[in-house]
Amino acid sequence: MSGNLATVSYIGATILFILSLGGLSNPESSRRGNLFGMIGMAIAVLATVFGPRVTSAGIPWIIGAMVVGGAVGLYAAKVVKMTQMPELVALMHSLVGLAACLVGYASYIDTSTPLAGAEKSIHEMEIYVGILIGAVTFSGSLIAFGKLSGKIGGSPMLLPARHWMNLTGLLVVIWFGREFINAHTIVDGMTPLIVMTVIALLFGIHMVMAIGGADMPVVVSMLNSYSGWAAAATGFMLSNDLLIVVGALVGSSGAILSYIMCRAMNRNFISVIAGGFGTGGGTPAPKGDAAQPAGEVVPISAVETAELLKDAKSVIIVPGYGMAVAQAQHTVYEITKYLREKGVNIRFGIHPVAGRMPGHMNVLLAEARVPYDIVMEMDELNDDFPTTDVAMVIGANDIVNPAAQDDPSSPIAGMPVLEVWKAKTSIVMKRSMASGYAGVDNPLFYKENNRMLFGDAKKMLDEVLVALKS
Ligand code: TAP
Repeated sequence: MSGNLATVSYIGATILFILSLGGLSNPESSRRGNLFGMIGMAIAVLATVFGPRVTSAGIPWIIGAMVVGGAVGLYAAKVVKMTQMPELVALMHSLVGLAACLVGYASYIDTSTPLAGAEKSIHEMEIYVGILIGAVTFSGSLIAFGKLSGKIGGSPMLLPARHWMNLTGLLVVIWFGREFINAHTIVDGMTPLIVMTVIALLFGIHMVMAIGGADMPVVVSMLNSYSGWAAAATGFMLSNDLLIVVGALVGSSGAILSYIMCRAMNRNFISVIAGGFGTGGGTPAPKGDAAQPAGEVVPISAVETAELLKDAKSVIIVPGYGMAVAQAQHTVYEITKYLREKGVNIRFGIHPVAGRMPGHMNVLLAEARVPYDIVMEMDELNDDFPTTDVAMVIGANDIVNPAAQDDPSSPIAGMPVLEVWKAKTSIVMKRSMASGYAGVDNPLFYKENNRMLFGDAKKMLDEVLVALKS
């Protein structure tokens, strides 16, 4: 493939990536967005592999690597459960970081195109910064993977003088950066490079370990952004324009998402990025499965739930992580369809951080063919709860916790929540009194107008559906 054709292909791929991002911003156009992304990526890979910069001797190696990588990816995508998706995404971010590190080291020891003067310094700066971002992304994403999969505890690890440690690390990295640029030989430059990599790896671990349970959504989107910048840095190292553009697209869209997440959590963006500040407003989440339960709860049966729904004129459903675990979305749709046919005004209230990844609930409801026009964002219907007969909470917990508004010492204090307790009756569907991701007790359960429908969400909803139809 000629250089010109490769450039034209790169421009085409860039346009497709931009269209893909545009499509993904709306549930109705998201399938098309994904398709644009896939076509763009196929063009990008083909134009790179068969482009002028790859020799024919290299092609079998690349194809071999693609077959191995593609097989692993295909297998992972086939076996992954919907609830494990966020962990898989975190793991993939870590691979982008690792790739940036490896490309950085490879381009440093590669002497095939000798550079001199300013060009050499700029190239070395690209390598240093690229490895720095890559290492932070790599180790941070691995810790995020551990936290999301429950292999590492969710509560924040707050080391004494942690901000001073971070600052010292930054100064040492800057100092070694100067040593690296001034090094005359590759051997001389290797020591500062390795020291910086180790510090960056430790910083990534420390940064994510210091972030508490309820702030994890911000970390997930922030690491998404970092992986984009790591890819852009790789693009600079390899002088690949497409990688720079795509990396910048991912980096900036991840940064915008982080900002949106911060607003949803009522957290300060800079504070969360600095690591651990976001938890300062409250006491750390208690350890263990559940915080101390306080008060009596009123259980309800599936049949009684169906009676309440039959009598209701307006219903708001608030889905959460438990709906994903139980895979209850299809039954939720059946119930919604039935009630709509009976003339009930039924809507869904989606919290921006419901579930374990951005848009988690929207994806599940779209999969179950719930119409988009009744799926509303938290801000759109929070004022409607006082005029709602039944608010049905399906496997959600933190996002409907009134302590966020009433208890300034709560780890989730200040986080906007769906005010389900203002409905005439709220029904919380979950298996036990266990707390949610943030590990805090939920005073909603003990409210006078609240009922608890204990059990697996799918099983209970199946029973509700049978009772509704009988
Ligand atoms: P959570 O607060 O985690 O609560 C989920 C509830 O679902 C649990 O209390 C659990 O109670 C219940 N549950 C689990 N399996 C169930 C099943 N099979 N049937 C019925 N119920 C089941 O979820 P949420 O309200 O969606 O809030 C999300 C939380 O995750 C927030 O704290 C958020 O900060 C955090 N987080 C979000 C993200 C993103 S990007 N969305 C990323 C990381 C962390 P039982 O065990 O008693 O059943």
